[in-house]
Amino acid sequence: MRVYDIIYKKRNGGSLSKKEIEHMVFNYNNGAVPDYQASAFLMAVFLKGMDDEEIFNLTEAMINSGDVLDLSRFDLPSADKHSTGGVGDATSIIVAPVAASLGICVPMMVGRGLGHTGGTLDKLESIPGFRGNSDKSEFLGYLEYAGAAIIGQTAEIAPVDKKMYALRDAAACVESIPLICASIMSKKIAAGAKNLVLDVKTGSGAFMKNIGDSIELAKKMIAIGKKFNRNVSALITDMNEPLGSCAGNALELKQAIEILKGNLKNDLYELSAVLCAYMILKSGKAATLKEARAAADRQIDCGKALEKFRQIIKMQGGDPKVIDFPDKILPQAQKSVLVKALKTGYISSIDARSVGIASMMTGAGREKKEDPIDYSAGAVLYKKTGDYVKEGETVAELFYNCAAKIEEALTVMNGAYAISEQEPAKNELIKEILN
Ligand code: URA
Repeated sequence: MRVYDIIYKKRNGGSLSKKEIEHMVFNYNNGAVPDYQASAFLMAVFLKGMDDEEIFNLTEAMINSGDVLDLSRFDLPSADKHSTGGVGDATSIIVAPVAASLGICVPMMVGRGLGHTGGTLDKLESIPGFRGNSDKSEFLGYLEYAGAAIIGQTAEIAPVDKKMYALRDAAACVESIPLICASIMSKKIAAGAKNLVLDVKTGSGAFMKNIGDSIELAKKMIAIGKKFNRNVSALITDMNEPLGSCAGNALELKQAIEILKGNLKNDLYELSAVLCAYMILKSGKAATLKEARAAADRQIDCGKALEKFRQIIKMQGGDPKVIDFPDKILPQAQKSVLVKALKTGYISSIDARSVGIASMMTGAGREKKEDPIDYSAGAVLYKKTGDYVKEGETVAELFYNCAAKIEEALTVMNGAYAISEQEPAKNELIKEILN
């Protein structure tokens, strides 16, 4: 079997057999297929799609690129949550300690920034010393010690997703239902959690721009989960506007800490609490969704979730003082520029994708897979949809160290804010729930 023929067949719209998919995945994983052929394969899938059987076979081959964790030794209910990617989406950093503080095992395997969206791993690595790259035995050790760990794909668990994820990011092959489905479900199934809550974003800042595509993606992931005996729920949530008020690694981390301290009850808090409630309910730690939500709120208000996060940070080599002194411990950008309202009126929308792109231009994201990132860089939104502003009033601020693209970033940010005379209708954060 030749890799060239597999690419050729998919490029021409053919349906790949299980053996062909396994051949591609196995040989890319072991280094026999170079990045340029894997990129061509991914682009062919991006353009021609895959049927359900191909998606299942791709997911299975990606799972089989490494080990599947058996968490039964911990004798705890297990749950995880994963987002399809958004701007300002620091929910993972909030839900993992909340759920773990209730005695739920959370084996969270996350990714780096993808396209214009941020990645949980990059956000956590803004904490000096934090180790997001762990091996399997370390991961299991973490779970034994703290009941939760947040790490990147390892050489033993979903290793091929690590390679493909970085390649898709650089080769503009991200917004694809089969590739997103296989990427997410392979690492979530391999990491072993029995209960899974998927946050499927929809809107301008999401990889799925319309609700129909988001529902299709959600249904495919639920169906794959079922085949692997996982209990999956999916929430279709709004990503037309960034979540919270920050886009950028250290900035988002600091905001997540404020939420875990109970100091901030914004839309990021709300979504995190709802996602966590589903994790709690599915794990059998509450009898109803209402009770589960109350438990999530309580763990934040009483400080137990914050202490769990401190424990996770320390265990993974990070400086736990970040909890008490985030401004001292996290990297700070040397420069900033204000974004001003171009006219008077109500902010009618803030285009999430533009905010994500502007944040990348400040240095917070990568263009090539080996690019370094500036953890301190990004955007802070002082005004959000529905706020009334006067012309010239500050609506946001861009933080940076390298000025190379800052003028362009400012233009993109100005374009992100739409201002109108009429007060906009309220946008629903949660659009649909699929079980
Ligand atoms: N998150 C993932 O892990 N993979 C994707 O492809 C998109 C979001």
